[in-house]
Amino acid sequence: MVLANKKSIIQQANELLEQSIIYYQNRPVGTVAATDSERDALNYDQCFIRDFVPAALVFLIQGKTDILHNFFMETVVLQKQERRIDCYQAPPGLMPASFKVESGEVEQYLHADFGDKAIGRVTPIDSCLWWIILLRAYVKATDDISIAHRPDFQEALKFILNICLGPQFEMTPTLLVPDGACMIDRRMGVDGYPLEIQALFYAALRSARELLITDTEGKNTIARINNRLSSFVFHMRYYYWLDLKKLNEIHRYQGDQFGESVVNKFNIYPESIPYWITEWMPDRGGYLAGNLGPGRMDFRFFSLGNLMAIISSLTTDHESHEILNLIEERWDSLIGKMPMKICFPAVEGLAWQIITGSDPKNTPWSYHNGGSWPILLWMLMAAAQKMERAEIGERAVAIAETRLMDDRWPEYYDGKNGRLVGKSARMFQTWTIAGWLLAKLLRDNPRCLKFICFEQDTEADACTI
Ligand code: GLC
Repeated sequence: MVLANKKSIIQQANELLEQSIIYYQNRPVGTVAATDSERDALNYDQCFIRDFVPAALVFLIQGKTDILHNFFMETVVLQKQERRIDCYQAPPGLMPASFKVESGEVEQYLHADFGDKAIGRVTPIDSCLWWIILLRAYVKATDDISIAHRPDFQEALKFILNICLGPQFEMTPTLLVPDGACMIDRRMGVDGYPLEIQALFYAALRSARELLITDTEGKNTIARINNRLSSFVFHMRYYYWLDLKKLNEIHRYQGDQFGESVVNKFNIYPESIPYWITEWMPDRGGYLAGNLGPGRMDFRFFSLGNLMAIISSLTTDHESHEILNLIEERWDSLIGKMPMKICFPAVEGLAWQIITGSDPKNTPWSYHNGGSWPILLWMLMAAAQKMERAEIGERAVAIAETRLMDDRWPEYYDGKNGRLVGKSARMFQTWTIAGWLLAKLLRDNPRCLKFICFEQDTEADACTI
């Protein structure tokens, strides 16, 4: 009975994924974000680059590489499209947040959104980072690097790297971005140096290093990447890391220190430690903070950034195990009845007003503000499996399986423990379906983990102080 039921979930998930495919000139090029016929499509009928990632990885594991090939051939062209907001011409390099097939009088064309149409005009910085990470996965899966070595792809990589590695008004190696530049694409206090972007930046730099042709120009770019990676890794592992020991140190920090070798470099005042963390931080475990800047440490736990840090080996093996320990120790808060919380805890009251701009979609324990997103399941599985602790992923998948199909594959869930289907959640959300399917496929095909995982880096010199 149980077996029959499971089979039908897999069948349904595969069928729904198939139905989500977008065709352009009769070729599959991507997947729509959701196929919910009960709601106004808004832009959910478009192919979002970040949403396509889990679907694409499923296709890769299933050997359906055509759709990825077509996706790359189209997006590499879109990257060069003009993007204008009012009269401002934004620089090339960014990949669109999403694109859609439109029909003209004679033929079809692709219409892209670089944030110039998006709600709040958010800049989709994660798109170009995911694009590189996915290109590397494609190369690994097909064992064929020729697409990445095409001149137009090398140019696309360089456009992105030029924006990321170019000169900036910055004294830290992290990437400075505006609010809502990633999966959390609304105002949520994720401006500055949010963990999600940093983890994707790291994985994208490591992917690009594998994809660049090693001619003179390529070698120079690789040297720039290595230079950035060594200081970046140190910065993230050292300054972002939070556990009970570190919390004790911050609790006794001196403020307003001037000079090169001070302890409290970012001037984090102990008074800024939120009360919840003093109880929530377990004895065993730790994680990377959500954000770090002048006088600012965001103590919230952000799942995508922490899981991608494990997957990409941004964290040391010890830290990766500690993050998984924390997930085990705080299972009810982070996994609850639906894996997994996008961030913990929610911001409430005055903080909600100030941080979200009183966003009615991001009320406490809903949507981006402490809602639960099944898409994160595949990252949990990959991270757990990489650290040889697959049972964590399996437990989570088993919880999700009890509800996802009956609930019609919602985009997200609400409530402190994820028991409610999201207030405004779309049904038949493609990355919910693909995320669950991918978690199962990774579990059954551990050799495919290498499409997305990275070993500890031995190429970039470790930075020491
Ligand atoms: C919402 C999510 C975003 C996602 C999009 C399409 O805007 O915040 O991360 O890409 O929906 O599913």
